[in-house]
Amino acid sequence: MRKVRVEASKSYDILIERGLINNVGELVRGVTNAEKVCVITDSNVGALYADRVMDSLKNNGFDAGLFTFPAGEKSKTLETVASMYSYMADFHMTRKDIVVALGGGVCGDMAGFAAATYMRGIEFVQIPTSLLAQVDSSVGGKTGADIAQGKNLVGAFHQPSLVIIDPDTLSTLPERFIHDGMGEVIKYGCIKDSELFALLENKEALYMIDDIIERCVSIKRDVVNRDEKEKGERMLLNFGHTLGHALEKIYNFEGLSHGQAVAVGMVSVTRASERAGLTESGTADRIEALCLKYSLPVSDKASAAELAAVCASDKKTSGDSVSLVFLEKIGSSFTQKIKLNELEGFIV
Ligand SMILES: NC(=O)c1ccc[n+]([C@@H]2O[C@H](COP(=O)([O-])OP(=O)(O)OC[C@H]3O[C@@H](n4cnc5c(N)ncnc54)[C@H](O)[C@@H]3O)[C@@H](O)[C@H]2O)c1
Repeated sequence: MRKVRVEASKSYDILIERGLINNVGELVRGVTNAEKVCVITDSNVGALYADRVMDSLKNNGFDAGLFTFPAGEKSKTLETVASMYSYMADFHMTRKDIVVALGGGVCGDMAGFAAATYMRGIEFVQIPTSLLAQVDSSVGGKTGADIAQGKNLVGAFHQPSLVIIDPDTLSTLPERFIHDGMGEVIKYGCIKDSELFALLENKEALYMIDDIIERCVSIKRDVVNRDEKEKGERMLLNFGHTLGHALEKIYNFEGLSHGQAVAVGMVSVTRASERAGLTESGTADRIEALCLKYSLPVSDKASAAELAAVCASDKKTSGDSVSLVFLEKIGSSFTQKIKLNELEGFIV
């Protein structure tokens, strides 16, 4: 079994192995003395995997309850989190009990937030089942929900006690979500790992997905160990995300998916930084070719003026400038502030 150890404000293991979903009970038992466990999942993942996870937990002596919410980002609300609290309270869960998040990033973020806040914080375990969640969102302790004013505007840093990754679960993940996750994988190669980037260029990612997951979570682990609360280095994980997020917003989160928007964002920001002489020439072409190889879009009809206006009005932007992540070259990244009134001319 592959094991990656996180040493942040809390230490925990990320376990990666095919078939692990069948051993959840004993793995969770290894990190807790809890009596009750609340498994939180969405309607798609629950239909596929909840039975075996519940059986495994019960076989290891847990009193296990199951909370299922309708799949999709639209469910990522405080109302859904409130129903989780009610379920846990009715199930008589105490501070010593534990939550298991079984699903993609939506489930992990919300179940993690419910765990961070129920009775002022109880433990939780992540079982990510989408590629995006396996390579990125299940690690690092960012939890939360969306509100009408914006995505992920409410949340908490709350590290899991364990992350259980079974790459076999990707066999049931619809293809478009595989592509979505590849956007984040390419991001990791861009910001920190030129060897990973070259592997993605020269081979087929899906044939070496266990290696790729391990590499991505190891990079995230290193970054989170050094900057858990995103005061500096962790911002590098937002490469392509500022413009990507602006694109998602322009289409009211119903046009491009997150991974698609990040792909367009990575290519656009790198074209701009190459023009400005900040990035080795030819870098944007390599990112573009790699995104196309993994069926991700690389441009969009939205204008630089529209993108700049959305960035300026973003609830997370403060002051007169925005911090963008750039590459010196593939595998090496840095942040730099761009004045909001110069952004349109910069990305044009
Ligand atoms: N916490 C973080 O650090 C972090 C980082 C990046 C993204 N995120 C968040 O992650 C979310 C996106 O995550 P996502 O792309 O996993 O979305 P998701 O959780 O909605 O999952 C995508 C779809 O795949 C389905 N699914 C998941 N695993 C499956 C499987 N094995 N088989 C069949 N279907 C499966 C889900 O039901 C859903 O329909 C966003 O809300 C984003 O804000 C969080």
